[in-house]
Amino acid sequence: MPGAAPPANAQTTAAESSSANVTLRVNGAEHSLPLDPRTTLLDALREHLHLNGSKKGCGLGQCGACTVLMDGKRVKSCLSLAALVEGREITTIEGLAQGDQLHPLQAAFIERDAFQCGYCTSGQIMAGVACIAEGHASSPQEIREWMSGNICRCGAYDNIVAAIQDAAGVTGPARRG
Ligand code: FES
Ligand code: FES
Repeated sequence: MPGAAPPANAQTTAAESSSANVTLRVNGAEHSLPLDPRTTLLDALREHLHLNGSKKGCGLGQCGACTVLMDGKRVKSCLSLAALVEGREITTIEGLAQGDQLHPLQAAFIERDAFQCGYCTSGQIMAGVACIAEGHASSPQEIREWMSGNICRCGAYDNIVAAIQDAAGVTGPARRG
């Protein structure tokens, strides 16, 4: 019938035919995923790899809830296309601990009670790890400035800054050069 919607299986076939295999390296493991080329890294992590620690807050690069590390540098995964990060080493909050041993910043967040609802927390921690590695954690003011891309609607900023300061004392910045 003219104008009728195509049958559901025809839609599925069309979606499948537009997908391409994308190989992602996440937390040390390689995954080959059939993805629509428009899939963001965040959606690939959450919807396809079921790594739900990275959160979707705004989806627009404005809140930082989706922050992950790419080759050790922080990125907002809602702004990255999965197909464009093939071959890069992605680290999510799920890959930060070493077995049962929490990363020092994870431990500091617990010690300092640096969260309330927890929605922003994984993004704060990933950004905080990068902030320390970049050498941008030498004072509360500097931490606030370099963490300004990560929003906490609960306003746990004082404790987040304190946790990052504590962890910076343990891990220190990455050596340069
Ligand atoms: Fe990515 Fe808000 S969800 S910055
Ligand atoms: Fe609730 Fe940060 S702890 S948004």
